Amino acid sequence: MSAPRSITADDLSLHPPVEEDAQLVAELMDVPVSADRPAEIVRGWREHWDEHGYGAWIVQEASGRRVGFVGLRAHDEFIRVTIRVVEDEGGDQLASRALRLVVAHALEWLPDLPLRIRVAPDDLVTRFVAESAGMVHVPELDHTVDADAWQVRELPYVRVADRIPARAREAMLRMWVEVNDAGGAVGFVPGASEEEVARVLDGYAAKLAEGGAACVALNSPLGDLLGFGFVVQPAGATVAHTGTLERIMTDPARRGTNHGALLLAGLHRAARERGVEIVTLDYRGGTGLGEFYTRYGYREVGRVPGGVRVAPGDDRDGVIMAKAL
Ligand SMILES: CC(C)(COP(=O)(O)OP(=O)(O)OC[C@H]1O[C@@H](n2cnc3c(N)ncnc32)[C@H](O)[C@@H]1OP(=O)(O)O)[C@@H](O)C(=O)NCCC(=O)NCCS
Repeated sequence: MSAPRSITADDLSLHPPVEEDAQLVAELMDVPVSADRPAEIVRGWREHWDEHGYGAWIVQEASGRRVGFVGLRAHDEFIRVTIRVVEDEGGDQLASRALRLVVAHALEWLPDLPLRIRVAPDDLVTRFVAESAGMVHVPELDHTVDADAWQVRELPYVRVADRIPARAREAMLRMWVEVNDAGGAVGFVPGASEEEVARVLDGYAAKLAEGGAACVALNSPLGDLLGFGFVVQPAGATVAHTGTLERIMTDPARRGTNHGALLLAGLHRAARERGVEIVTLDYRGGTGLGEFYTRYGYREVGRVPGGVRVAPGDDRDGVIMAKAL
């Protein structure tokens, strides 16, 4: 399946530019719409779309009002992100939402290149927006152009492996134990020992070795593990186009910085590359996770009342969700 051209969420959507968007660009640049530059910019965006199949998206509120853009431009070794929204009340939140959606879309669908944004050191708003989308400052990429200093932030990247990388095992184990202790719903209750968790983690090594699973890790550009999960495919020709996402977890110390969305994007990409057309996952009722997954296109397809015993007297529903990829 080819990458969708639009990105849609409840509160806003993003679309490739049309010629009339010169009006919006003029407004953002604070120049008259009769000026040449806005039309030239939109023409450039449209050419980029024709050449690469992605480019700048126009941000549209649910009301239909077009309020800004998130631009992606191909360079040889990376993709540069730019963002601009009208300076209304709530503009920063809007920019943050739009960027969060675009970078997750990029990780799921676009060429596997680093995504970078340049931020002026005193531009605190763009820094906040980039940080909330998960983009991390990589000091060695900072540079100066015509006496303007730029800090460079890069998006975490996803790695798909057919075994548990030896170097990552310890970090995965540590994260899994921390996630359990923080109340996460990934097969254990708080206080589960490292040995118990290691047995289940190493159980995946066997599934990976048989070729029935993929290990998907979200890594910071600085090298640390930010989250991971597994795509598991059932044996049997009739169900070979399905897969289950398991043990989806992100570092509890860095929640709310888009890592869940990025990890899910990576899991979807990995699943699609393995021929999966329908993904399912299950979650523990009473955790609010249904809302989280609904945002990414999942719907509930089944529920086992009391199917998860968190503690004696605390039975929760096991809820199954599915999504067509
Ligand atoms: C679920 C999980 C992977 C999401 O990761 P994250 O790093 O918080 O994800 P993001 O920053 O992309 O998303 C955060 C958004 O999802 C929402 N969200 C996250 N966990 C949620 C939950 N349990 N219930 C409801 N909403 C949740 C947040 O409120 C936030 O909303 P906002 O964008 O409006 O601020 C992470 O919370 C986690 O590892 N949980 C513990 C393990 C677990 O239970 N995994 C699920 C197995 S099915």
